[in-house]
Amino acid sequence: MNKIFVILLFLSASVGCEYGRMYDQPNPRPTTIVQQKVPENIVKSTIKHKENIYKSNPFQLTDINLKSGKKVYRQFCYHCHGADYKGNTPVGYGFPVPPTDLNLEAIRTKSDSSLYTHIYYGGKYSPALGAYMSDEEIWKVILFIKNKEMLK
Ligand code: HEC
Repeated sequence: MNKIFVILLFLSASVGCEYGRMYDQPNPRPTTIVQQKVPENIVKSTIKHKENIYKSNPFQLTDINLKSGKKVYRQFCYHCHGADYKGNTPVGYGFPVPPTDLNLEAIRTKSDSSLYTHIYYGGKYSPALGAYMSDEEIWKVILFIKNKEMLK
């Protein structure tokens, strides 16, 4: 019995040390993260080029494309827009305007090219992801957002 007590005491002491170290860590707030700016001339010329090629989504509505769109969402959008797409996330709360609810009809009926532009350049508070995402990833995540209920 005594032994168990000593082990428990030891365990709680060592866990305590871990917490002590965590306490010393810097605590970044979402609002203090400086958004990296993409050089304007590079982005502009690239997107013009791209818009000339695709006015609408070049990826077809298939299960495979939706699945990879979901993966892209998990990687680039999930931490702000959330698992239910409503923007109720700890990161989302840090913005003056919460991340838009992606279930809204108004978003799902937006044109492909305006969604592309939004993701590429960012919005007032949402990040410009054009420099981090491939063309394919952007189109697939758009396909996914508009048709997510089709993926079981
Ligand atoms: C760092 C947080 C963050 C990330 C990451 C993020 N968003 Fe957002 N998003 C926001 C915020 C905040 C808004 C609302 C303010 C604004 O539009 O700038 C928003 C708005 C939007 C809108 C609404 C645009 C409109 O026309 O009103 C869409 C669509 C959107 N995001 C899609 C995405 C997609 C798709 C991804 C992933 C590829 C993504 N967002 C990643 C924070 C984020």
